[in-house]
Amino acid sequence: MCGIVGYIGNGEAYPMLLKGLKSLEYRGYDSAGFAIVNKGIAIEKDIGRIEDVEKKIDLSMLKGSAGLAHCRWATHGSVTKSNAHPHADCSNKIVVVHNGIIENYSQLKEKLMQKNHAFSSETDTEVIAHLIEEYMKNSGFEEAVRNALKEVNGSYALGVICADEPDKLVAARNESPLIIGKGSNGMFIASDIPALLEYTNSFVYLHDRETAVLGKGSIAISDLEGAKKNFKVSRINWSREDAEKGGYKHFMLKEIYEQPRAITETLNGRLKNGNVIFEEEINLSDKEILEIEDVKIIGCGTSWHAALVGKFMFEELAKITTEVEYASEFRYRNPIIKKNTLVIAISQSGETADTVAALKEAKKLGVKTIAICNVRGSSITRAADGAVYTMAGPEIGVASTKAFTTQLAVLYLLTILFSKARKTLNDRQIKDMIDGIRKIPLQMASVLNEDMEIMNCAELYHKKTNSLYLGRGVNFPIALEGALKLKEVSYMHAEGYPAAEMKHGPIALIDENMPVVFIAPHDIYTHSKILGNIEEVKARGGIVIAIATEGDSEIPKKAGHTIFIPKTLYTLSSMLAVIPLQLLAYHIADKLGRDIDKPRNLAKSVVVE
Ligand code: F6R
Repeated sequence: MCGIVGYIGNGEAYPMLLKGLKSLEYRGYDSAGFAIVNKGIAIEKDIGRIEDVEKKIDLSMLKGSAGLAHCRWATHGSVTKSNAHPHADCSNKIVVVHNGIIENYSQLKEKLMQKNHAFSSETDTEVIAHLIEEYMKNSGFEEAVRNALKEVNGSYALGVICADEPDKLVAARNESPLIIGKGSNGMFIASDIPALLEYTNSFVYLHDRETAVLGKGSIAISDLEGAKKNFKVSRINWSREDAEKGGYKHFMLKEIYEQPRAITETLNGRLKNGNVIFEEEINLSDKEILEIEDVKIIGCGTSWHAALVGKFMFEELAKITTEVEYASEFRYRNPIIKKNTLVIAISQSGETADTVAALKEAKKLGVKTIAICNVRGSSITRAADGAVYTMAGPEIGVASTKAFTTQLAVLYLLTILFSKARKTLNDRQIKDMIDGIRKIPLQMASVLNEDMEIMNCAELYHKKTNSLYLGRGVNFPIALEGALKLKEVSYMHAEGYPAAEMKHGPIALIDENMPVVFIAPHDIYTHSKILGNIEEVKARGGIVIAIATEGDSEIPKKAGHTIFIPKTLYTLSSMLAVIPLQLLAYHIADKLGRDIDKPRNLAKSVVVE
């Protein structure tokens, strides 16, 4: 859960490393460090955010055209200067930055200490530098890295430089993200693509247990045995502007506002002549779709909430039994999976450790798997049989927003595909579904116009300490998502519940200090029940904020505040209803002066268990 950047080329390394690292700060921000090769290796690091480290140390004196940089989210060893990366061997000649966890580090450390290696940190990472040092007694630099990694259990994305071989940067990965950027003036490594967009659009994906040796103008990839591997250079059409704030105060706000465009991109080319076209993305024939008996969807956090919406759609419309599981639970029990089960893993980053591991578990059971993911070439897309990309563009804010709604769009398209193949809906219904989603981008734009009213609610209630989010059916997961958004960016406690469950406990919490957010788009089955629930909250003095469908005349009579969303199909209402909740969380957090794009204790991709 850290960020890595590396460069080797003809340019000045430090400014590029700094820029890249700043865009990776969402991955970890308790300390930062740099190592630059120049007649030896100069290392500068300290605790705090990158800008704090810049203030403490004059980093501009770091001159040289090869180096590494790292921002840390502590796992092994507390937040201290000595635990900050980069880490070096005894001679300060071999320097590493690492993201991941070395599971057998204490055994390795003991062995190395017996051989008189002196450690200067409590981290698992430092053992790698000493192990390489040990192997370099009998072999060259890259071979020593490969040999060291053969002894390592766990996950790593690694950048290594060596003072004796200043023309090489060695990188390696296993279950932690690392990409190689091929620039015109040098080669890069980074934890994600946006970190390098300023310098290149050409990327090479490193696979698990592969190493890369980068020179100023060369890339060579091999496995841990040293056998050469072929690789492909892929072009990514994300622009640098996509990964910048574009005038918004925070990435989170920018990304909320990008949702109409993100949905348009996600639908682009996938709706043709009344059909959903996924080309070979999902890698399932019509026959295989017909044979699906069950679906299991796995994910974590916001992606898990998307999975719950997917369950509602698959069961309601495609009539396929669907279970949703937390990836972290799925991987550690013995799930019963029938032969004709389809497992779908959802992940914005494609690198969440639990989701990757759960998907691999499912694959071991021999069933078909699909990834729904935002990052090309990420671990889950490579592990799954098929991959459908959400075209949200880079999501930088730690709180997931546009990735969520694009996940819902993909799940909706899959629902249409499955319903059509299984004939659970007729042509008219399919057409209505397609017409419905085509309107969503414009309708999202009109929800964004409600921002003033939402800001007003934030102004009134940002000093409250608790809140409740209630929804039913397809909007129960939206209640969970709204509560999660508020918690993570504002640190205000919030709970999401199915609206009718309120009476079974949470109602005891309601008093005049408790805002209750009802997600209540019109639905013929439950609308009158939700009205009843609103009355119950009001009767106990609670403050009611409701998300309702335009034209609903009942809800505004009862709620303190009503935010309207346009009329759409019930299954699509979740995609619109979540936007006011994202904005509410954002504005409350902003009024409280929170660090919205990098909330405390969180990191964008949870690549540790
Ligand atoms: C919440 C949030 C997290 C992620 C979760 C899974 O706003 O961002 O809950 O949804 O960590 O991440 P991915 O989707 O990358 O697997």
